[in-house]
Amino acid sequence: MLAMAPHKFLLLSLVLFSFNHFFCFSKLDEDRTLGYLDDISSDVMSTHPSYYGAVHAERETIKYRPNRFVLERVARVASLRSSQEVVNVEGYGAKGDGTDDTEAFEEAWKKACSSSTSAVLMVPENKRYLLKPVTFSGPCKSDVSLMIKGTIEASSDRSDWNGKNGRHWILFSGIENLYVGGGGTINGNGKIWWQNSCKIDKSLPCKNAPTAMTFYSCDKLTVENLNIKDSQQIHVSFERSTNVKVSSLTITAPEKSPNTDGIHVTMTKNIAITNCVIGTGDDCISIESGSQNVKATNIVCGPGHGISIGSLGDRGSEAQVSNVIVDTAQLKGTTNGARIKTWQGGRGYAKDIIFQNLVMHGVQNPIIIDQSYCDSQEPCKQQDSAVEVSNVTYNNIKGTSASKVAIKFDCSTTVPCHDIVLQDVDLVGEGHAATSLCNHVNWTKEGNVIPLPCAK
Ligand SMILES: *[C@@H]1O[C@H](CO)[C@@H](O)[C@H](O)[C@H]1NC(C)=O
Ligand SMILES: *[C@@H]1O[C@H](CO)[C@@H](O)[C@H](O)[C@H]1NC(C)=O
Repeated sequence: MLAMAPHKFLLLSLVLFSFNHFFCFSKLDEDRTLGYLDDISSDVMSTHPSYYGAVHAERETIKYRPNRFVLERVARVASLRSSQEVVNVEGYGAKGDGTDDTEAFEEAWKKACSSSTSAVLMVPENKRYLLKPVTFSGPCKSDVSLMIKGTIEASSDRSDWNGKNGRHWILFSGIENLYVGGGGTINGNGKIWWQNSCKIDKSLPCKNAPTAMTFYSCDKLTVENLNIKDSQQIHVSFERSTNVKVSSLTITAPEKSPNTDGIHVTMTKNIAITNCVIGTGDDCISIESGSQNVKATNIVCGPGHGISIGSLGDRGSEAQVSNVIVDTAQLKGTTNGARIKTWQGGRGYAKDIIFQNLVMHGVQNPIIIDQSYCDSQEPCKQQDSAVEVSNVTYNNIKGTSASKVAIKFDCSTTVPCHDIVLQDVDLVGEGHAATSLCNHVNWTKEGNVIPLPCAK
């Protein structure tokens, strides 16, 4: 029975904790699941008992000689697994041969989601499962883990979205304690959508394209160890969710693919994004309104538009973003590095933000606050109200700027940026000196800052 009594649960947490401290697994093998274990024993474990079995399955391949002490602990973890219900999509008619498997996935989800013990929904490896738009809804009776070993590929027929919500391909909605991982691939097959984007073909009207994976209203969610590629538009979006862990995602799309953000966060609280490699045609990570306590660490980004807070305040809307840390990232050949972008005419705030330990490699705008962001076919008018940007720290930002202006603070006349701190910044131009630009910004510096903003 996996519906564990609290005391057993505690015991298991303790056991894993000590287990983890006896053996530094990450030194034994490069496998990503191991690094993940480090995390798990501390806090994820307390909220996500269900996928323990799955993690353990990966671990069986590790070559080491454990003592009895360890074996006992492994056995304990393994016993959890036997009580999980494994639901294989092939048992519900999925063929994995490139024909439509949508219904089979829907039926398998129903089964997994209504299981009275925790369930593993299994997508086998070495096959390609074709899906039309699909929704996996909660609440589920027990915890569900979706293990994607093979490839899930989107239908390339755009009419499959007719009469459906054109903004989603795979939608997870209202689920608690969901785990999605498995090392497989999600392929959005976006080419046909990109060709029909108004950004590529200016004669076409602007229409939405689907987000490959959307997590809407999920709590205690883990998404890890997946390759996500060629999305129709945004690759992975977290919306109105809480307590989210995202790690070891590789997200790729061509540099010229329009609006293909890597990870999008909106109205979401308590989200940690770690160890992700993202190269797409738009923002690597975009953090939008209503997001609070967002932490992104160990991110490799490029090509793309960089790591962005915003855009905020479009069409006069009120935006609230606070407590964002971007720590340890490499940005390679991106159009922006650490960016905050707001539209004119918005309201609200973006505050308590730290960008630290970033390395820029030929980034066009390594540090940028742009309060007159405008991404519309019509030019944007000068307006008085603005989303207030304050308490932003840039600490230990190094590397090269592809453009002359390495630091750009272009803030609003009526709502200036304030409490902007630059600490140990060293940005040089590629073959030229770097400069800075400031409009309506109050900033201070600590340590060495090159170039100094506004030659102050
Ligand atoms: C500024 O933001 C940091 C976190 O980014 C926070 O710890 C600090 O309290 C904020 N300062 C003020 C004055 O609000
Ligand atoms: C900060 O900006 C405000 C308004 O723009 C200005 O009145 C104030 O003197 C500035 N403070 C500092 C310390 O520069």
